Amino acid sequence: MASDSHKRGKEFEGKQVKKNRIICGLDVGTTKICMMIAQVLPDGSLELVSTGYADSAGLKKGVIVDLDQAAASIRKAADEAEQKSNLSIDWVTVGAAGSHFQSFNSHGAITIEGNHQEVTAEHMTQVINAAKSVAIPPDREIIHILPQEFFLDEHGDIQNPVGLYGSRLDVNIHVVTCQSALNQNLINAVNRAQMRVKRVILQQLASAEAVLTKDERELGTALVDIGGGTTDIAIFMKNAVHFTKVLPVGGAHFTRDLAIGLQTPMEEAERIKKETGTVLTERVQDDELVEVPGIGTRASRSISRTLVCGILRDRAAEMLELVRDHLRKALGSDPLIAGMVLTGGGSMLDGLMELTEETMGMPVRQGLPIGVKGLNDELSHPVYATAIGLTLLGASKAGNRKKSVGKTGNSPWIFTRILQWAGNVGHE
Ligand SMILES: Nc1ncnc2c1ncn2[C@@H]1O[C@H](COP(=O)(O)OP(=O)(O)OP(=O)(O)O)[C@@H](O)[C@H]1O
Ligand SMILES: [Mg+2]
Repeated sequence: MASDSHKRGKEFEGKQVKKNRIICGLDVGTTKICMMIAQVLPDGSLELVSTGYADSAGLKKGVIVDLDQAAASIRKAADEAEQKSNLSIDWVTVGAAGSHFQSFNSHGAITIEGNHQEVTAEHMTQVINAAKSVAIPPDREIIHILPQEFFLDEHGDIQNPVGLYGSRLDVNIHVVTCQSALNQNLINAVNRAQMRVKRVILQQLASAEAVLTKDERELGTALVDIGGGTTDIAIFMKNAVHFTKVLPVGGAHFTRDLAIGLQTPMEEAERIKKETGTVLTERVQDDELVEVPGIGTRASRSISRTLVCGILRDRAAEMLELVRDHLRKALGSDPLIAGMVLTGGGSMLDGLMELTEETMGMPVRQGLPIGVKGLNDELSHPVYATAIGLTLLGASKAGNRKKSVGKTGNSPWIFTRILQWAGNVGHE
């Protein structure tokens, strides 16, 4: 694989590569591919340079199922972003989803030699290594190690123990794993689109970076990114990630339910969902009708909007109950003080915010991406949360810790300091 990366390096020689201070986030979604190019300004903030967008092809439920199609749609989005900026992009930070991602919490402890010794960065690495030394099946790999909380001589709530004195260091971590082959397929698709992968990041962690406030991460929030093919959950508490889950259901399932229930083509079902769809029955008058084109040569029909609403509401209720069950299992009796934040294109469905609030029994808001200068109204939209978050994380020091060329490397991304999740990520 080393020679492969060397060969790739040569392939890139002809390109005008702008590595310095240019950051690129690539959201390989089930519905769309979005590439964001940003530059790091002298004050450390990020400014948008250009964007590229393409309809997704070759992906199902967040996973690559056709390499050539996926690579072509990635290249299309990249071409647009590169042409608009007159830049040629080499390294990208890529978002990944799919229900092959799994996670667990783990605990590790080490003794600091001597009586009340100073904790060093080396001790931090040792204790994290102790926590992550859990048997992982051979076909899986660790993609993220996210420290939650350190304890020094049983005193917790420590985010960065370096420099403190103590004799026993404990840590709780959240570990995200994925199926190696499926992760490799994503990297290969990006490589085939003539770019290299700096880092693969679980999509909801990127979306959270773009939409959550510091207070929400501290007090306790569930970020739910409803995409086209997956619904991605991340629970934040005390500035740390406590739970992540990818559910294989998204906006495309709502569209499919409508297409089947109304006997109409998928693209018409998608249009009807966006234009007249709602999950709140009280927003529909009894006599409201929707013009529904037939499949093939069949004639259009006028169908009660109440039926459209009922189909969407049933799917929404099922999806929200699934989310609620996972949250209950993950949280036990711990409350989410700051409630829930919904983002992703699926969160745009009319009435979903209200229905979620009712189902979850907690405050819910829509998450619009922020944190990058130059975002206009069109881009400060839930569908761009992941791409913008990837750009933010790509610019952070944490995002630069490891680069994956061709095959994924062995060392996963360790957030050495939980504070990197606490709002302003330390941009390079
Ligand atoms: N106004 C709207 N009303 C209802 N649904 C919408 C609206 N706008 C977008 N969507 C839905 O959002 C989904 C796409 O969202 P998004 O772009 O976040 O997905 P993705 O990132 O490509 O997919 P994934 O994250 O699952 O890989 C589609 O199913 C689309 O129908
Ligand atoms: Mg997405």
